[in-house]
Amino acid sequence: MIRSAAWRSHSCGDLRAENVGQQVTLCGWVDNRRNHGAIHFVDLRDRYGITQLVVDGDAANDAADQMSGLHQEDVVQAKGVVRMRIEGQRNPDRVTGDVEVLVTSVEVLSSSKTLPFEIADHIDVPEDTRLKYRYLDMRRSPLQRALQLRSKANNAIRNSLCAQEFVEVETPMLTRSTPEGARDYLVPSRMRPGSWFALPQSPQIFKQLCMVGGLDRYFQIARCMRDEDLRADRQPEFTQLDIEMSFVDEEDVYAAVESVMQDVYQAVRETELVTPFERMPYNEAIALYASDKPDLRNPLQIVDVADVAGTLDFVVFDNVLESKGWIRAINVPGGASLSRKQIENIERLAKESGVGGAAWCKIGADGPTGPLSRFLKSEAGGAFIEKVGAAEGDLLFTIADTPRRALVALDVVRRESGAVMNLLADADRIVWITEFPLFEKNDDGVFHPAHHPFTCPVSEDLPLLRDGQKEGIRSRAYDLVLNGVELGSGSIRIHDKDLQSEIFDAIGLPPEVAAERFEFLLKAFSYGAPPHAGFAIGLDRLYSIMFDAESIRDVIAFPKTATSACPLTAAPSAVDSEQLDELGIKQQIETEQEVKP
Ligand code: AMO
Repeated sequence: MIRSAAWRSHSCGDLRAENVGQQVTLCGWVDNRRNHGAIHFVDLRDRYGITQLVVDGDAANDAADQMSGLHQEDVVQAKGVVRMRIEGQRNPDRVTGDVEVLVTSVEVLSSSKTLPFEIADHIDVPEDTRLKYRYLDMRRSPLQRALQLRSKANNAIRNSLCAQEFVEVETPMLTRSTPEGARDYLVPSRMRPGSWFALPQSPQIFKQLCMVGGLDRYFQIARCMRDEDLRADRQPEFTQLDIEMSFVDEEDVYAAVESVMQDVYQAVRETELVTPFERMPYNEAIALYASDKPDLRNPLQIVDVADVAGTLDFVVFDNVLESKGWIRAINVPGGASLSRKQIENIERLAKESGVGGAAWCKIGADGPTGPLSRFLKSEAGGAFIEKVGAAEGDLLFTIADTPRRALVALDVVRRESGAVMNLLADADRIVWITEFPLFEKNDDGVFHPAHHPFTCPVSEDLPLLRDGQKEGIRSRAYDLVLNGVELGSGSIRIHDKDLQSEIFDAIGLPPEVAAERFEFLLKAFSYGAPPHAGFAIGLDRLYSIMFDAESIRDVIAFPKTATSACPLTAAPSAVDSEQLDELGIKQQIETEQEVKP
């Protein structure tokens, strides 16, 4: 392919045996240099590949000197003639490996200083250094590959959704606070001192307004900003595939999302995703897997043993039963083969999650052994073991605590046991989790929307809501979960302004505050709002799984660190006092030094 008549005739990945004899011009980075006496080799690299340049002793011009003077990562333009490499020196691992370019001239377009790390895939470079020199990290194949795949996947998404008559709309970045529950990044207004924009946590409200505007089907590959504590799968700035649809129910949203997922898997992984995806109500996911994002590759399931636990004469169980706590067990088939150390490690991790313990026993040929075994010798014990489904050779864990703490510990035990026993199936498991609760209690006992306040309750549960109940009310919200990772969330929305006001009321948002924050939305709903629903997929999470990356940072061109900083630009940074004056902002940062008496 002709890349640019002015600069290069071919890329560094183009040349083959059929180009032999052609006069070519290549541009790229000096990847590798080898001098064998009078013969100089240089591997020239660009995004498309690597081509070997050579000058031999017979070179009648300055080419030999020019070649020998090159440094690693200099950017050069090389001219020469393509020739076959001699037999025995061909490189079958490279697409250009049969040929080389006998160079007649090389010009250094831009020289490179000594690098902070070598541009080679096999070299381990600390992540901070990679982020600081992201443009150098980008020259290595893992990031090149990830960014190229990301572009291909985004393209597949656009094609898929446009074919389904979705309209791509860009919504504002300077906006009001949106209701996703994280802290906002704020931007001061110079024109209106004292007023602030918020960067969008998602395009939630705008996409709903697009439905009121009659767009019918909206999508956006949207940037979202959330000032929250980071975890491995979170970034302060991330990308969603955001969609919204009018006159639809859950089935239509599932079908649209499944179709785009199929297309993107086909484009990037050349695999056929089987649809429809599995579905599981939230309550079932919690009961069987202690998680609203269960990794279904792990076959271990949780058994509620509350009814039999009370017969064992085990005071810990009795106390938990009395305080209406949970007693649940996990049977690990074949787990009796684990060493005491391995089992105690799982127990320790469970304890670290907040529970008092994870009483366990092995089932041996002569009955149970291990800390729980002394409560299981009786007939009641036999019934307990039977209820859990444990047989000879198995390992049984029990967790007894408040539901909140037990849930976390059961998840830990299930994950750790699955991992140490190597139980995870190879095939990806993707599942819709449906009927999430409408409200969730936070640590202070205050109820807040489990998804966001525009989520529609299940209509049969409306009377309970109107009776003032909050616990156990189901919503029409759904998540998509892949191998234990929450890929995306969405819901059927409230399109009735009175019901919307009821929900604001139920979460304790006083009418005047709701009116102030969401007046524009409620007003829009008073001019004819279609029933609508939507969904958003976290693309960084999806791509990190699809591209087999270790972290979401590995599929983002310029990610932030775990402390939400950018080592490359040294952002966030201080600003000039004049800038603050212009904005009418007075800075009052109390350093630890200053607040000390
Ligand atoms: P939600 O807040 O659940 O829903 O976000 C949807 C998906 O976005 C991804 N995600 C993140 N990815 C990386 N870093 C983060 N900090 C981060 N936060 C969220 C997750 C998540 O499942 N407006 C609603 C969607 C809707 O109702 O249509 C929303 O944003 O993969």
